[in-house]
Amino acid sequence: MIAPQSVEQLLNAAVIEDVVGEYVALKRSGSRFKGVCPFHDEKTPSFVVTPTLGIYKCFGCQKGGNSINFLMEMENLSYAEAIRNLAKKYGIELIETGVKEDEAYKENQKLRENIQIVLDYAQKFFSENLTETEEGQTIGLEYFKERGYSQEIVKKWGLGYSPTAWEALATKAKNEGYTLETLELAGLLRKRENQGYYDLFRNRVIFPIHGVSGKVIAFAGRKMSSSDPAPKYVNSPETELYKKSEILYGIFQAKNAIKKEDKVYLTEGYTDVISLSQFGVENVVASSGTALTPGQIRLIRRFTHNITVVYDGDSAGIKASMRGIDLLLTEDLNVRVVALPDGEDPDSWCRKLGSDGFAKYLAENEKNFIFFKANLLLDAAGNDPIKRTEAIRDILESVANIGDPLKRNSLNQELSKICGTDETLLAVELSKIVKKKLTGKGEELLTELKQITQAAGIDLPREPLNDLNQERAFVKLLLLHGHEPFNEEQQVFDFAMSELSADENVFFTDPMCVKVVNMFFEMQQTGFQGSQYFVNHTDPEISAWAAGILSQGHLLSEAFAENYIYITHESDNFKHELMSIFVHLRRKKLDSLIQKKMELLKNSDVDIEEVLLHIVFLESIKTRISSEFGYADYKP
Ligand code: CTP
Ligand code: MN
Repeated sequence: MIAPQSVEQLLNAAVIEDVVGEYVALKRSGSRFKGVCPFHDEKTPSFVVTPTLGIYKCFGCQKGGNSINFLMEMENLSYAEAIRNLAKKYGIELIETGVKEDEAYKENQKLRENIQIVLDYAQKFFSENLTETEEGQTIGLEYFKERGYSQEIVKKWGLGYSPTAWEALATKAKNEGYTLETLELAGLLRKRENQGYYDLFRNRVIFPIHGVSGKVIAFAGRKMSSSDPAPKYVNSPETELYKKSEILYGIFQAKNAIKKEDKVYLTEGYTDVISLSQFGVENVVASSGTALTPGQIRLIRRFTHNITVVYDGDSAGIKASMRGIDLLLTEDLNVRVVALPDGEDPDSWCRKLGSDGFAKYLAENEKNFIFFKANLLLDAAGNDPIKRTEAIRDILESVANIGDPLKRNSLNQELSKICGTDETLLAVELSKIVKKKLTGKGEELLTELKQITQAAGIDLPREPLNDLNQERAFVKLLLLHGHEPFNEEQQVFDFAMSELSADENVFFTDPMCVKVVNMFFEMQQTGFQGSQYFVNHTDPEISAWAAGILSQGHLLSEAFAENYIYITHESDNFKHELMSIFVHLRRKKLDSLIQKKMELLKNSDVDIEEVLLHIVFLESIKTRISSEFGYADYKP
C-alpha cells in the first residue's frame, strides 16, 4: 500500500484542471471550469472543476472527487494505479507500506496489466522488424516509402512490420518468456486447431491503435500487395483493453489540436488520418470504416462540438453515411461536410494539393451538412415533383434532429430558398416531424431527469399527477391507445405503467381515476384491456364514467392551452402527450429539488457556491424541458 503522506504530497502537487483537461474540454467560468461530463450522456454541461479545492463534480450523475478518483473512474484504474500514474506525471517518489488490496479487483487489474505488457512488447517487435531487419526494410519500409511516409511519420504513428513467417512473434515472445495465452488474449495470436499459435498479423504492415491516453491498445495490419487476395486490413479483436466502439483512430495524437481548434475532421481510414496530419491538419480522427457509434460521438464531444466529415469522392459512400450523420445532429454537434472529387480520398487528395492547397480546399468546400444534403438530394431528384417532395421530407427529417429551435428555424429559411418551397409550408411540415421525434427525446430527457432526482438523494414530496384534467387525460389516453406500440419493445400501456411505478411519489386525486388506475395496475398481471372493457363494465359507475370521459373533447390540450401555451394536437400525437405528462411530472420534482436546495442556503455550514451552482444547473434543465416540449413557464 502507498503511505498516506505520499498521497497527501501527490494531491498537493496534482493540478486538477490539467488532469481532467486531458479528457474533457474545459471552459473557464469564473474561478472554476465547466465541461460536458465524461461519465454520462448529457447535453447540458453539468461537470464542474474547482481548482482551489482540487476537485471535480458532476451535478448530473453526481460523480465527483479529486484527481485520483477521476483517473480511477476514467481509466478504470485501481486506487493504487491511479496514484502511481499521477506520481509519474508529477515526478513524485512514493513511499510504500505492506498492506493488501482487494483480491478480485487486483486479479482483473493484473490481467489488464499483462495484456498491456504484451501489447507494448508487440509494438516494439513490429517497430524493430520494420526498421532493423532486412525483410522489414525491403518489404515494409519500402511500402511506406512508396506511400510517401518519412521516418518521422513512421515514428510518430508507431508504424511497424509483421514478418512473413507464420510464427515470428509467437516464437520470439515465447523464447523471451512471455506466455502465449496472454498474447492470444491481447489479440496478437490465434490458436491453431491441433496445437500451437500463429501470428494474426503475419505478412502485413502495422498501424498501432492508441487509447486516449496514448497507450497502444490494438493493431491493424494492412496487406502490402493489391494482388494479395486476403482482406485489405486485419484488425485486433475486442479485448479487455480494446473496445472498438469507444475509440477513434488518432484521438491521442489529435486531442490537443482538436481542443485548440475547437473542431475535428472525421475521415474513414488510418491512412487518411496519417496523411492529413502530415499535411498540416492535426485535428483529425478516423472511424475505421464503420458507422459512428454513440460511444465515439461521446468521445468527440469531450473535446469539441464542431465536426467536419471529410467524404471520399464516391457518392455511394456519401449516401451510405447520411444516416450516421443524423445521429451526430441528435447529439448536439455542429456538423459540416467536405466532399472530395470523384475517385479521391483524403489521403490521395491532400497529397495532390499539398498543405496550402488542401487547407484552401477544405475552407472553400466546407458546407453545413443540411445544405450539402439538400443539394445532393435535390440534384438527384431533378424536376420530378414526387421525387422532389420525397427529397424535401428527407431533408426535413435531418433538420428535425437539431435540438436548438432557433438553429432549426434559420436553416428552414435558407432551405426554403434552396428548395424553392414556401417557408411556412416547410415550417409546418418540420414541426410535425419534430413532434414525432420529441417522443423519443422525451424518453431520453426522462432518463436524465430520473438520474438527477435519484442521485440527489433527497426525499421529495408526494405529487399528484399534475392536475385533474391531466389525470383524466392520462386515463383516457390509455383507454384509447394503451394497446398500440409505444416503441419497438413496449406497448403504450406498458410504458405508461412502468413510468408510473417508477415514481413512488405520484398519486391521483380524482376518485374515479384512482379506481381505474388501480385496475390498470391489476392488468399488469392479467393483460391490458382497453376502452370497450371499461365502457361495458358490470359496475355501472365505471361504465358511465368511461363513456363520459371518452366522449369529452380534448382534455389535455384544453388544460394545457390555458396554462402552458401548448402547440397543436393531432390524434397521432398521443405519444407526445403521454411523454409530456411524465416530463412535466418530473419537472415538478425539479422544482421541489430547487426548493430544497434553496432552503439549504440558509444553513451556514454548506458550500454556498456549490449549492448555487447546482441550482443553476437544475434551472438549465428546466429550460431544456421548456424548449423541447414547447411550453412556457407553468403556473403551479
Ligand atoms: N477497413 C477494415 N478492413 C478492411 C477494409 C477497410 O477494417 N478490409 C477499415 C480500415 O479502418 C480502413 C477504413 O476501413 O482504414 C477505410 O477503408 P479504405 O478506404 O479501404 O482503407 P484506407 O485506410 O484508406 O487504406 P488505403 O489508403 O491504403 O487504401
Ligand atoms: Mn481510404
